[in-house]
Amino acid sequence: MKAVVLGAAGGIGQPLSLLLKANPAVTELALYDIVNAPGVAVDLSHIATPAKVEGYLPPDDGLEKALTGADVIVIPAGIPRKPGMTRDDLFKINAGIVRDLAKAIATTAPKAFVLVISNPVNSTVPIVAEVFKKKGVFDPKRIFGVTTLDVVRASTFVSEILGDRSLSPSVSVPVVGGHSGVTIVPLLSQSSHPLPSSLDASTVDGLINRIQFGGDEVVKAKDGAGSATLSMAYAGAEFAGKVIRAIKGEKGIVAPTFVNLASDKTGGDALKKELGKELEYFSAPVELGVDGVAKINGLGKINDAEKALVQAALPELAVNIEKGVAFVEASK
Ligand code: NAI
Repeated sequence: MKAVVLGAAGGIGQPLSLLLKANPAVTELALYDIVNAPGVAVDLSHIATPAKVEGYLPPDDGLEKALTGADVIVIPAGIPRKPGMTRDDLFKINAGIVRDLAKAIATTAPKAFVLVISNPVNSTVPIVAEVFKKKGVFDPKRIFGVTTLDVVRASTFVSEILGDRSLSPSVSVPVVGGHSGVTIVPLLSQSSHPLPSSLDASTVDGLINRIQFGGDEVVKAKDGAGSATLSMAYAGAEFAGKVIRAIKGEKGIVAPTFVNLASDKTGGDALKKELGKELEYFSAPVELGVDGVAKINGLGKINDAEKALVQAALPELAVNIEKGVAFVEASK
């Protein structure tokens, strides 16, 4: 099981690489960045877990060497937000970074599972897909936008509302839509730990808002030094761990992730009908399998307020997706 981290020396990349090194299912770990990756790799290589760690820089075909034989590729390369920025503001720089990394993956590791963390996820996932289409290697089952941090935040914040942080690891709330502001839609009515019916509407609205804009709390607190890195690394390692378990044959693993709705025709088409819109991508609870996406689940039973949130997410999602598609179309 070879895992590769592209952008491995960054704020997310380093702790994510640490957590992947700590995953006993990973036997090879390749770290690539435009700076410092060999140092991070040597540091991690002293940890007594099975993975053999190598670090690569751009010279001497470093990217190709890192990608050769990859099973799972996680991409946290690119710039993070500063106060006042939206994820979409990152597009200008990150779109080109992700496009170029996708080109290298399409050539060297077209069968790998690609997990995109770089923002704006709603646009960078379509960018990877469009590059793969151009190169004739597109398999919608294998490209995932990592929205797990929204799911992790929902578990944490719901447990806080319930007044018991020790519940947070077992609180499970599906978060659907996309990964930015109003496109993040927590389905609180499906929480494994229901909210008390006595909770007033403004507390529920506040909770939804906190899950949607939780990233801003971190950006503000870091005061110019970046966005979520440690919690994102935790979330990224959680999701990568699930994909790895699924590839190794474990069944029944379901996680929300931003996928191409053609990945599973049956589920994708049913979801589009449910949404009432011809969207190409959406984050939904996805059952993972040996080939990647095994089944895209629908939204299930949701209440009227959640239906309204889903509808409110659709226009922005459509614009974000189209922006990614158009970027690759306009690229040489
Ligand atoms: P960072 O600036 O600390 O690290 C980014 C790393 O990418 C740096 O080490 C940099 O050298 C590297 N890099 C830049 N261009 C590269 C290239 N062409 N090839 C390989 N590596 C390259 O940023 P941080 O905080 O790690 O964030 C990374 C990305 O993750 C940002 O776009 C951020 O918005 C996103 N993010 C996504 C989240 C999600 O939930 N999906 C949550 C938090 C952040």
